[in-house]
This record gives sequence, C-alpha cells and structure tokens, in this order.
Amino acid sequence: MADLKTRFFGLELKNPIIVASSGLTAKPQNIREFSDLGAGAIVLKSVFEEEVINEYNQIAQSKTSSHFEEFIDYFDYKIRDQILANYGKLIKDAKSCSKVPIIASINCVSSGDWLQFASQVQDAGADAIELNLMILPSDLERNAESNRRFYVEAVKEVVRAVKVPVTAKISSYFSDLACMCRELSEEGIAGITMFNRFSTPDIDIEREKVVPAGALSTVDEHLIPLRWIGLLSSKIQCDIAASSGIHEGKQAIKMLLAGANAVQIASTLYKNGNSYLGELIKQLEQWMQKKGYKSIADFKGKLSLEKVANPAIYERAQFLSHFGGYNENQ
Ligand SMILES: Cc1cc2nc3c(=O)[nH]c(=O)nc-3n(C[C@H](O)[C@H](O)[C@H](O)COP(=O)(O)O)c2cc1C
Repeated sequence: MADLKTRFFGLELKNPIIVASSGLTAKPQNIREFSDLGAGAIVLKSVFEEEVINEYNQIAQSKTSSHFEEFIDYFDYKIRDQILANYGKLIKDAKSCSKVPIIASINCVSSGDWLQFASQVQDAGADAIELNLMILPSDLERNAESNRRFYVEAVKEVVRAVKVPVTAKISSYFSDLACMCRELSEEGIAGITMFNRFSTPDIDIEREKVVPAGALSTVDEHLIPLRWIGLLSSKIQCDIAASSGIHEGKQAIKMLLAGANAVQIASTLYKNGNSYLGELIKQLEQWMQKKGYKSIADFKGKLSLEKVANPAIYERAQFLSHFGGYNENQ
C-alpha cells in the first residue's frame, strides 16, 4: 500500500488532500464526516475581519448618541468577543469530533489589533492558522507597495503572536507574485496556499443587472496554480498547497508533480458531495500504485521548473509559435 504522508501547515498529514475553508467546514457534522473519510487536514470556515467591521459600521450608522464614542468602543469589543467566542466554540467542537488536524482560518483586510485574535484562536485549540489574505488591488489610492507591506506585516505579526504554525493563503493578483511568495516564505510561515478565488461579479443580460457569479470553480482553473507551483516550488523556502479547480484525483496529482506538498478542495465537494473526498484519495492511491510510487516524495516536484527538460514552457506566456500551427479541429 502506498504511503501518502506529506507535510503542510508545519504538520505531518496522513495524506495531501485537505478540505479547504468554506461553508462546508463551518459545521461540526461535516467535519466529523471529512475526518472519517480520511482528510489529511480540515481548514475551518474563515472568521472574517470584515464581518466585525460591517457589524460595527451598521451600529455606528444607527446611533446618534452624545456618548457615541464610548458606545462604539463598547460594541466594538462586544462584537469581536461574540464572533470570536462562536469561532472558538467551532474550533473546540471540530477538535472533539475529528482525528485530523484542524486549521483555523482568519481573514484579514487590515493589519492591526485584529491579528492579536490569532492567539485566541490558538488557545481554542487550533493545530495551525491559515491567514486568508485577500485585497482586491482595485483601490487607486493604494499602490502595490502599500499592499505588499500589508501582506508582509500581517504575516509577521501573526507569526510573532502565536506558537502554532502559520500559513498564508493568497490570490494570484500580484504584479510581482514570485517576489511576494519568496518574501512571505522568508517571514517564518510554514506554507503558502496558492490560490484563493475572489467572488466575482457577472452581468445578467436579460435583467441588465450586475449579479454575483457562481461561487464554484471550474476544473480549468487548476492551470493557474499549476504554473506558479511549477515555477516556485523549488525556489521558495516554505511548503505549498494548491487550491482552485482541483476537482478530481488527476488535478491533485498534477499539483504534486509540479511540487505542491498538498492540495485543498472545496468546489468538488459542493458538486459531488462530501463522500467524494474518499474517492479522490482513492484515485491518488491508485495512480501511485499503477506508477509504482511508494511515497509522495517519490514523485513530488518531479515536474517542477528545475526538473523538467523544457522549463521554458512554465515561463512562456504568449502563444506565438506554440499556436502558430493551431488547428481548430484538433
Ligand atoms: C462557498 C464557498 C465558501 C468559501 N469560503 C471561504 C472562506 O471562508 N475562507 C477561505 O479562505 N476560502 C473560502 N473559500 C475558497 C475555498 O477555500 C477555495 O480556496 C476556493 O474555492 C478554490 O478551491 P476549489 O476550486 O476547490 O473550490 C470558499 C469557497 C466556496 C466555494
């Protein structure tokens, strides 16, 4: 039997298939099921800094008291305490009903006091913390340097505040993605998850309305993290987990060949049901048996930039001659 052990979140995992943060991981009964189905680890639904800010703003708008500031300070703490108490309970419940590492996920949109909550999450028993760091680079007042500083400061502060391993989950929206990953990896994090997906707007042409696009990924999306994992896995100091578009064992295997230590899955579980997790692990195991691989280390990174015969294929961005002879009937 193939040995599927790997490492991510600074922890040894029994296999590389991690259940990603989503609504599915906000419920203890799902967490128990994923643990029983053999997940390598489970990342809980993120606790969102924005949730605190939104609630705080709603209260601020509804109050015109002369003791407004005092009132707001009080509510600020109360809201934070309540949201964190609920999250602490989720961590405890998850730990008590599962046999696999439970990872807390904190979404930060500004660095500051909020990051101190990382230690509360640690005290509640999380085995590691994934920082869900997402800034849409759409603010014309905020240049790449100020965004870069936010990411690095957020990571530095949390790594300093806690003893459990910290990983960063980022999007691919960086003008200097490779430098950003290297810089984050030098700040003491255990790993980077590549990549989170933004919720995106769409347009309904019948109603002529801007609407949210579907939340689930398509399988083609795996090619984006695949390129960057292939390019960076041998160049940065921390472990990598792939995320986006991993719907079957096939995409998970590709990510490991490109150099990922693990993969995270969400959409495929929404589409195919929780039990598909077991199927995906089986597909990985069967492929390893077919290929004669005894452990993940036997093939991890076998097709990363530095190992492939034609590394230029990872770097090539323009179609040019590659599609010079493209035949649309192919
Ligand atoms: C309904 C839904 C909710 C999600 N909520 C979170 C979240 O709270 N925190 C987070 O870091 N990622 C969240 N994600 C993103 C997933 O963890 C994952 O990174 C992304 O969906 C790409 O992986 P996939 O193609 O396997 O879905 C969510 C995804 C979905 C579909």
